[in-house]
This record gives sequence, C-alpha cells and structure tokens, in this order.
Amino acid sequence: MTEIFERRRHEATKDGKPTVRTHGRTCLVATASVAATLVLASCGGGAESTGPAGERSLRLALNQSEEHPSFTALDHFGDHLRENIDGVNLDIYPNETLGGQAEVLQLVASGAVDMAVVSGAQLENLNKDFIAFNVPRVFDDIDHQMDVVHDPQITGELYTSLEEDHDLTVVGGFTQGARSVYTADGPVQTPDDLAGANIRVQESPLNVAIAEALGGSAAPMVYGELYTGLQAGVVDAAENNEVSYFTQRHYEVAPYWSYTEHLIGLDYLIINSDALAGLSDEQRAAFDEGWTAAYEEHAVLWAEATEEAITGAEADGAEFHQVDEASFAEALDGLVEEFVVTDTQRELHNAAREAAE
Ligand code: GCU
Repeated sequence: MTEIFERRRHEATKDGKPTVRTHGRTCLVATASVAATLVLASCGGGAESTGPAGERSLRLALNQSEEHPSFTALDHFGDHLRENIDGVNLDIYPNETLGGQAEVLQLVASGAVDMAVVSGAQLENLNKDFIAFNVPRVFDDIDHQMDVVHDPQITGELYTSLEEDHDLTVVGGFTQGARSVYTADGPVQTPDDLAGANIRVQESPLNVAIAEALGGSAAPMVYGELYTGLQAGVVDAAENNEVSYFTQRHYEVAPYWSYTEHLIGLDYLIINSDALAGLSDEQRAAFDEGWTAAYEEHAVLWAEATEEAITGAEADGAEFHQVDEASFAEALDGLVEEFVVTDTQRELHNAAREAAE
C-alpha cells in the first residue's frame, strides 16, 4: 500500500487550490501534491472514518471537477444518505485529489477510501469480464446502456465478482456518453488522418487497441495529466466525451473535435465490500434508493451538460467536425471478436445486445 502513497500525485485543479467537498464543510487541501494519506487526515478522516459522536463518513474519490454531472449527482446522493441514515456523511474528494483511478481502486480495495467512481477500463484490469461492456458498439445509446448496467439479471454476478479477491463491490454505473477523438493540429476525417499521432487513452489493453484501430499510437495516461500532456505535445490527440473535454478544458490545448463516437463509455460506482456489508438492511435500502435517484438524475444532467459543453467550448474557439463514419466503423469492427473471447464475456455481451433488440 505504501507505494501508492509514494507515487506522484497530480494537480488537483489547474488554477487554485483543490477542495474536498464534505457535507456541511469544504476542506482546503494544502498543496496539489499532498499524499492521499495527508489529504484524508487533514479532512478529519485518518485511518478511521468514524468521526465525532459516532458519525460515520463514507469517503468517495472522483477524478472529475465539481462542474461535472457525476459530482452533482453524487452530491445529491450524499444529501439522501445524510437525511436517511442517521450519522452518515458522504465526503466527496473530486479533481483526482486522492490520485488517479488506478490508485483509488487500490485505496477502496484496502478500505482506506470507501467508494470511488472508476471507468470500466480500470475494472477490466481486475476482471476481464468487464470488457464485454467496454467494447465499441455494445450499447446503442445511453438509455440502452443504463437499462443493461442496472439490470441485476445481467450484472448480478459481474458486480460481485471482485468481492473475494479485491474486497470491491460494484454498485452501478454512470454513463460517459459517446467518446470521440480530439486533436491539437486539425480535424480528422478518416483513421489515416491519425497516422503517427500519439493518442492518449485510458490505461487498459482494450484502449491501446482502440487507439491503434483509430489510426494512431496509444499513449496510456492518467486523466489528470492529460491537459499538460496535450499542452507539452507529449500527446497529439485524446478521446473522450464533450463533458470531460469542456470541464477539463482540453479544448484549450486540442481545439479540434472529430465525431468518431467510437464507443459509449461507462463509469462504475464501486464500494469497499466491508463498508457495504456494514450497513444494516434498513440503511442498505436507503443507500440503494439514493443511488437509483443519483443515476437517474445523472442521465438527465448528462444531456444538459453535453449541450452546454459544446456551446461553451465553441464559444472559446473549439471546432466540432463530422468524420467519415464508415471508415471508422470498419477500423473498429474487429475489436469485439478480438476482445470478447470467453464464455462469460460472450454471455454478457449477448445479453447487452439482446436488450437492445
Ligand atoms: C471520462 C470518464 C472517467 C475517465 C476519463 C478518462 O471522463 O468519466 O471516468 O477516467 O474519461 O478518459 O480517463
């Protein structure tokens, strides 16, 4: 565990001090490079997450800013928990304050942090079955995706599959919307236009293959390092949704957005299994009710935030371009066959596809 804390932390925000949002108070983090242990301790947490008068703080790590729909929906989830479970608070640490997603995954597994939002790309590194929902074209649209990932008949075993070895339980999903490519040097029409480009991707083998299928070379990198990576020319391109493009201000350093829409991404809310098991039946019911309201609200906020992101980025000089869809579709075509290979992966993928029909 120590090595996690020794690894370099990332700027939590690009201008100004990072904050930790807790219900009822905002905790200023001293410097952007403070280790997660210190961040937790300075917010009154420490190793124990039981506070004064038996108050229990559930700590949640998020790599998005406070403007992101995931933050808003989780903030309201926190209100629900506080109002319905006596003495429970949800403390959200946004802006990658506790580290990148690969790191917080370990923190949640160890119980140092209770919950986190992590991308499907991270979970596929722990259990390859998650790949079934990470490949291009598995979801037709966000509604389809949300129906599948909140259908216990489909996800039941997948969501408990990390409990035995990692002490992690998956609670459910938030959409990442459709992901497209954006570049520093000019729009792209076909995969050939990305030849020689270093494309930042999330850290997983599938994402490396996606970058290559899109026509470039893969540069796996932590989300919070991408702005400076683009600015310094370490990478020439990246791929994400409009909301991240805008809230992370990537358009400032990569102003050409090209609508490859190569996949509909998925984030998961994960929780330390012991923390979840520590809830009584009544508390668990309130937790589930709050989470359902949160992901439903998130889907509504998502549509609004996407529109706002496009308008906002355009007003600041970003350009949004269409691509030659057929050439990208053809380039991505083989990925399902290459990555969805085991019986369980096929079952999950088939179940998702059947739900679309
Ligand atoms: C999206 C997603 C994050 C993910 C990020 C990335 O913003 O919501 O969970 O970390 O993409 O590309 O790393």
